[in-house]
Formats: sequence, structure tokens, C-alpha cells
Amino acid sequence: MSREALGESIEILPVDLLDEQRPVVESLKRLAATLRLEFGWHYLLDLSWILSRLGVVDGKRIMDAGAGTGVLQWYLAAQGAWVISVDRMSRAALPLRFRRRFHVRGLRPSDLSPAWSAYFQGFRRPVRGAGLRRWATRGYNQTLELAEWLLKPPVKGSVVIYNQDLANLAEIADDSLDAVVSVSALEHNTPQGLGVVVKELMRVLKPGGVLLATLTAGRDQDWWHEASSGWCYTDNTLRQIFDLPASVSSNYDRYDELFEKLRNCAELRDNLANFYFHDDRKGMPGGVWNPQYQPVGVCKIKSV
Ligand SMILES: C[S@@+](CC[C@H](N)C(=O)[O-])C[C@H]1O[C@@H](n2cnc3c(N)ncnc32)[C@H](O)[C@@H]1O
Repeated sequence: MSREALGESIEILPVDLLDEQRPVVESLKRLAATLRLEFGWHYLLDLSWILSRLGVVDGKRIMDAGAGTGVLQWYLAAQGAWVISVDRMSRAALPLRFRRRFHVRGLRPSDLSPAWSAYFQGFRRPVRGAGLRRWATRGYNQTLELAEWLLKPPVKGSVVIYNQDLANLAEIADDSLDAVVSVSALEHNTPQGLGVVVKELMRVLKPGGVLLATLTAGRDQDWWHEASSGWCYTDNTLRQIFDLPASVSSNYDRYDELFEKLRNCAELRDNLANFYFHDDRKGMPGGVWNPQYQPVGVCKIKSV
């Protein structure tokens, strides 16, 4: 079977995905709201692209590579997947609201602190506001954490936290996972570093398993986007890194047309997360809508 027939592709994510995948988009928004998570400015595109290609996940073993505390791992667990959530950033103090509901455990003891310890660390988490108001907000947040831990019914699947660099997944066996997904994480690696990461992700995939990763696209050359601390990769670089031959389809020839539509996308423009207005290092300084790059999805299948 040709690689194209298998579904391998490099695809700049068109904003039309939001309407094509409307039920998924709305259920992602609802889940994020209940978990008090916000989306990066293009994440709804990334997530709907990944989910539209992943198929049924119930009972599957799936890695979320560079997961942070992002929505995808919780969404997959809610659909019945066994998720291994990998990030080099520690999530040991993961708030209580995620824990019981998603059957969260650490792969090793150091990957996840006990719930009581995470709860007390929550009192040190930064809260906006001053004086009495800050204390009241913190008290309210912590009461909510406890209530959600006690009352939210658990989902079918589970999430295993693994604090590790993706270049070295020593605790994960060869050929052991049905799928690897990754939302806007791999671009935080140099082109050379990313080559090592991709080899490691392919090692842990089962033959026939799928790697679905979203990264950021550069039109004519690879370049470093300072504001989001990420690389924007050309079609050529992605092909080399993911070892995808020229026969695998790409829509980079529509780069300008797709970018124009993205810049004019009211749904993304008018729903920027609050953090963009408070932190200029998140990729959209001052909360001013001004996309500098486009998200791109790479689909690669491990040969049988
Ligand atoms: C922009 S955040 C996206 C987080 C998450 N995927 C989401 O949807 O919110 C990128 C994450 O990728 C992680 N990351 C990037 N490269 C990594 C690597 N080589 N090993 C482990 N984590 C990595 C970072 O630590 C960061 O938490």
C-alpha cells in the first residue's frame, strides 16, 4: 500500500476544520471550561485535526508527547483511552481536580506527589489581585479543588504521568503504543533535537501505529519565533525529520491562501485566552491578534 493510502500527510491546518469538526470543537471547549484550562490561540485547530484522524480511542494505549496539563490527554481518557502523558516539565503537583476524575498516577513515585502534598502546594500558587481579595480567591480555588476531587465522577480511561524528555523514553518498551499524539510541543526542539525525538517516538509505537503531531510551519525557511520560543519548519525540513518521501502529500503550496484565512478567522481572533493579555512570552504579545505562523499537522505511520 502507498504511504499516501495509509494516510500519511503534512497539512497546514485550515480554519475550515473548526466547522467541519464542530461537535468535537464544542465538546473540547466544554471540557476545558470544566477543568479551568485555556487554549493556545490555534489549539482548537490542532486538537480537531488530531482527533479527526485518530479514530476510536477506547481501550487504546496512547502517548500525549509534550502534554503539559493540556486538554487532549483528559479528553482521550474521558473517551476510554489509557494515556501516557510525557513532559520534561514536572507535573508532580498536579491539582486535585484532575486526579481522581481521570485515574491519574505517576509512572514512577517522583512523577506525581501525593494528593495531600499537591493540595497544600496549591496554596502557594500565584493568584491575581491584592490583599484580602487574593486570600479570598485562593480559598475559593482550593475549596473548589477539594469539591471536584470528592464529587466529580471518574471517567473510563486513565492518565499516567511521566516526567521525561521525549528524546529518551527509557521506561517505555519498543512497539508498545497504539498511537502518539502531540499538540504544539515538538517545535520547542531544534531541527537536530527534533530528529532524535521523532526516532524515539517511532520506537515506542506499535507497527501500524500512528504518530499525529502538530507543529508550526515556516514558508521558505526554518525560523525561530522568539515570542513563542518555537521553531517554524518548512515542508522540506518536516519531510527530512519525519522521514516522509516526496510522494506524501502536503498543502504548503497553499501557504499564503491558508494564512490569509487564518488571519481573518473571527472565532480564533475573538476568543484569545486570558493569559495572552498578561504574559507577552506566550506568543501573542499584549493579546493583540497578530499570527506570525501557521499550525501544521504531520501524520506518520510506523511500517509493519
Ligand atoms: C506549548 S506547550 C503545549 C502543551 C500541551 N501539548 C497542550 O496542548 O497544552 C509545549 C510543551 O511541550 C513540552 N516539550 C517540548 N519539547 C519536549 C521534549 N523534548 N521533551 C519533553 N517535553 C517537551 C514542553 O515542556 C511544554 O510543556
